[in-house]
Amino acid sequence: MAFLFNSDAARGAVFREVFARELPDLEFFHCSEEVDSEKVRYLITWTVPDDISRYRNLEVLFSIGAGVDQFNADIVPGHVKLVRMVEDGIIRMMQEYVALGVLALHRDLPAYLDQQRRRVWKGIPARQADGCRVGLLGLGMLAQAAIERLKPFGFPVAGWSRSQKRIDGVTSFHGQDQLDGFLRQTDILVCLLPLTDGTRGILNARLFGSLPRGARLLHVGRGPQLDQAALIAALDSGQLAAAMLDVTDPEPLPDDHPLWSHPKVMITPHIASVTQPHTAAQSVVVNIRRHRAGKELIGVVDRTLGY
Ligand code: GLV
Repeated sequence: MAFLFNSDAARGAVFREVFARELPDLEFFHCSEEVDSEKVRYLITWTVPDDISRYRNLEVLFSIGAGVDQFNADIVPGHVKLVRMVEDGIIRMMQEYVALGVLALHRDLPAYLDQQRRRVWKGIPARQADGCRVGLLGLGMLAQAAIERLKPFGFPVAGWSRSQKRIDGVTSFHGQDQLDGFLRQTDILVCLLPLTDGTRGILNARLFGSLPRGARLLHVGRGPQLDQAALIAALDSGQLAAAMLDVTDPEPLPDDHPLWSHPKVMITPHIASVTQPHTAAQSVVVNIRRHRAGKELIGVVDRTLGY
């Protein structure tokens, strides 16, 4: 019985060490080695390898990242469980980044960076946190963890999700019918949705039009959820005051893309949250133990929902 690690050598070395200690009876292969495909029961990867069918005894396919939209699930046999990465490192980094982004947008950092480039020393009237309504699109595990970090600042927090969620201290909206109501009371919109057919292009002109004038956008979902031309139009018209993007489409943006130099935009190169090998290896070990004990795995993907 074997585990196959199909990603970079540096993280692979950490996984190998953790697995040798925690699951010594499980053979460990790195993709660079000669692999006995019949032995592979568990595979961790970013994208599904084209030759997935050669692993005839595969039982669980783990994503090395929190998202699974990059998985071509169609070529994965139906009985194989798909599992996204749920680990403390990813959660902690997303908490940090959402706090960073919300505070940056709340305290007008894009405008101050633009002023700095123009050598302008001028204060902008500051709104107080209790008057700045933060709304999270998506209320999954990462969003809920981010909310915990935002609460001490005193922002009123609301969230919208596909299905109903009740979270302490959060005004919850759900379903298509309540999306507009949620947007109308959101000053800083944080997108933390998974990419699915239902969320592709969701950040569009119509959605921006439903936000209060001067709202801000923090995008930490996936690039294809955002209509970038609509964002630029909303920023230029003043409907949106600023945006901070950690994801774009494509990644990276072409050199001449107008978002690079837009005075109301801050961009980071998809670094909000990155799988940390030690904590990730531990969480995969826990899941393999659960699998062996016949228990439900943490982070199982519902193939019909796509996340
Ligand atoms: C990063 O975007 C991930 O899916 O882990």
